[in-house]
Amino acid sequence: MCGIIAYTGSKPASPILIEGLKVLEYRGYDSAGLYVPGAGVHKAVGPVQALADAIPGLLPGTAGMGHTRWATHGNPSLENAHPHTDQNGTIFLVHNGIIENYMELREKLVEQGHTFTSETDTEVLAHLIGVEYEATHDMPASVVAALQSVRGTYGLAVMAEDTPDTIVAVRLGSPIAIGVKEQEFFVASDAAPMLRHTNSIIYLEDGEYAVVTPQGYTVYSFSHRQQEREPEIVDMQVEDADKNGHPHYMLKEILEVPSVLENGTRGRILMKEGNAKLGGLVDREDVLRDVERLIIVGCGSAYYAGMVGKLLVEDIVGIPAHVELASEFRHRSMLADENTAVLAISQSGETADTLAAIREAKRRGLTTVGIVNVVGSSIARETDVGIYNHAGPEMSVASTKGFLSQLELLVLFALYMGRMRSLTQAQGAELAMELLRLPEKVRMILSERHKLKLLAEEYLGYDDFLFIGRAYNLPTAFEGALKLKEVSYVHAEGYGAGEMKHGPIAMIDDIFPTVGIMPLDSTYSKMRSSIEEIRARDGKVIIVTTDGNTGVERLADDVVYIPETKECLTPILANVPLQLFAYYMGVLRGVNVDRPRNLAKSVTVE
Ligand code: G6P
Repeated sequence: MCGIIAYTGSKPASPILIEGLKVLEYRGYDSAGLYVPGAGVHKAVGPVQALADAIPGLLPGTAGMGHTRWATHGNPSLENAHPHTDQNGTIFLVHNGIIENYMELREKLVEQGHTFTSETDTEVLAHLIGVEYEATHDMPASVVAALQSVRGTYGLAVMAEDTPDTIVAVRLGSPIAIGVKEQEFFVASDAAPMLRHTNSIIYLEDGEYAVVTPQGYTVYSFSHRQQEREPEIVDMQVEDADKNGHPHYMLKEILEVPSVLENGTRGRILMKEGNAKLGGLVDREDVLRDVERLIIVGCGSAYYAGMVGKLLVEDIVGIPAHVELASEFRHRSMLADENTAVLAISQSGETADTLAAIREAKRRGLTTVGIVNVVGSSIARETDVGIYNHAGPEMSVASTKGFLSQLELLVLFALYMGRMRSLTQAQGAELAMELLRLPEKVRMILSERHKLKLLAEEYLGYDDFLFIGRAYNLPTAFEGALKLKEVSYVHAEGYGAGEMKHGPIAMIDDIFPTVGIMPLDSTYSKMRSSIEEIRARDGKVIIVTTDGNTGVERLADDVVYIPETKECLTPILANVPLQLFAYYMGVLRGVNVDRPRNLAKSVTVE
């Protein structure tokens, strides 16, 4: 959450900062601000464009830093927007993370005569650094010394008024990357806002800081020991992060699903062997062979992907799998032995709860595996082994292509783990073959997307929806409801169809429609009964089912068809129309679907 971009070089800094902040908006968008030495601090409440509008033309200055905020402490206001400054107005900083002991630090500073202008936890950092800087006039030393008394997480960029082209960047618990170009350097929360300028990226580790000037960068540990660090080349194109003529990232990203699924399997299927080739797992192949139990962790949509993963692993690999909300994982007894592995699923690779779960698993000596989209992200680097989605940047806050790619990679993972056990070559090849057919099947659904728009128009006036499913499509019901809530603010609940009569059916009437996800699979007849029960209570019904199952039309007000596939792959198809339905509902209700209120894409606070 919160996006940071800083620049030092020879070009005017303010347009670079504004452009970078726009790319970073998916991290937070309730207020934005920037600091350019010589031109001061500028802030605005609302999206980055409000900041751009508030700036009087091109600011002088070839260095500076900017921030887009997702409020944690203090509401979105000008005072709470970053950058923050110290008591003397000489230190400026932008922060992503949470300072847990800020109240006690602030009280101490107030006793010493400091005055605060915001309600944020961040402002104490500026004051603490300012105190050190006044005494030493050594920026890096002041930053590290000040942080000694701080408890919490931070990715920081700090500048001092009297060293206008120097940026000190610090990382503990919140990501910081440095972009390297000839005599131009960038500091940012992730690579995306720097890609227009450079693909050469260095990711700071926790407990490191960097001093960045137009002449170069140096990375140090908190104990001031210099660290050798060469940039990595990040294989991501600027165009990947653009809308390419689509009205929203969300639609663009749903339309990319077929190619994302193709990228996910490219070079990873060994058809003759009926197996998957997952280069990222080979380092722990022996350990994975002995794994007897898998715990899958994730948040949001990634958690629902994990629910599908559990079924895939149990059905295909034949070992018990559990799925846990990453935010709960550390707060209960973890019954795991050395043959338990923990699989983290995260599009961003930065979700704080998922990262914390992985760290806890490692503390207990368990093998950790990642399914991560963002290359070089914290979870990608901290898991023992992993598989990258190669889905390209996902800019829309609500996950669409990222989620479907996670489902695909879980199938590959299960195939790979299954072939180490009792899955036969023929079974493996059959699964792989069907997996390769999915991109075309998704294309068929997408080509009929106008039908989902009409459906959204028809249901626009309804304020409550129930999504029900069973087995492989119980997670689809949860995810379908989540997507609708996220991007249209329509109340929706996902429920197991079998549980419906234990509560939710009490809500059903003619203004509370139900979406039944019921491809022709092993639970179809049970789903039919649930739908009959809803019909008997005058509930409106939308059914998502398999092509050709026209008989179901008698039961439904509306039917959405998806192509036939293997039962374990149906969530990959069934989620596509639900994503489109949510998208059109959101757009028709006037929601900025890419940036829904109160949300952020990269949730880097616990
Ligand atoms: C946020 C996003 C969701 C996403 C979740 C987990 O809430 O809005 O779309 O599913 O974080 O994110 P991750 O990056 O860990 O997959």
